[in-house]
Amino acid sequence: MTMNLFVYKTYEELSRHAADQVIQSVVDKPEAVLCMATGSTPILTYSYVSAFAKQNRVDFSRVHFISLDEWVGVPRTNAGSCYAFLHASLFAPLVIRNDHIHFFNTEADDLVFECKRIDAKIIELGGIDFMLLGVGMNGHIGFNEPGVSRKLNAHVIELDEVTCTVGQKYFSEETKLKNGITLGLAQIMKSRKILLLATGSDKQDIIRKTLEGKISNDVPASFIRKHPNGYVLLDLSAAGELTIGL
Ligand code: PGA
Repeated sequence: MTMNLFVYKTYEELSRHAADQVIQSVVDKPEAVLCMATGSTPILTYSYVSAFAKQNRVDFSRVHFISLDEWVGVPRTNAGSCYAFLHASLFAPLVIRNDHIHFFNTEADDLVFECKRIDAKIIELGGIDFMLLGVGMNGHIGFNEPGVSRKLNAHVIELDEVTCTVGQKYFSEETKLKNGITLGLAQIMKSRKILLLATGSDKQDIIRKTLEGKISNDVPASFIRKHPNGYVLLDLSAAGELTIGL
């Protein structure tokens, strides 16, 4: 198994290490193409990245950001959208130019075209250098829900019930969530480096399936074990009773 597993005592420690790797990817390649997940897990990582970049004048001006996923039917102006989340936590603090942010526009008439547009942008930029992922309670990465094909690029997908229920936490009022738009597993697996983060005891069960179960699209996150440059960062609570690599 090629996977690299790191377990940290605390969420803070994990977030510091994840932030260091984001910064390092930009120091190594100032024109890096990054793809960063939304969610509760990476919030502290992003605040460390923004603070460190500001203090140390790390130059993000040539970096490009590719959208990982977005809720269909939720406009960017909604604070619960993935765009709004990343804008507040990374794009605004790092002062990223708009034309370096390549995000799914779920208000477009033709979402299939939107998928093709993002597929083409990834190719035009020479591929994704660094991807930071969380894992859903059902094992999804991005909105690659259980059962999704391993071969897909960007696509529109019907969201799993778990995702629709858990996703309510991003919205100030109950929001109808049905479909998502996401990069596919084919693109995720092609990115040059992946960091997958999981924290908290709620994730113990899915992390055990991800790392110790069968590698299959029943648990899309399990494919990280096949990535030659895939890193899994856990805190002690998410690691739980894992028997591997500890
Ligand atoms: P979370 O979301 O970080 O809020 O747990 C993870 C995900 O659904 O991908």
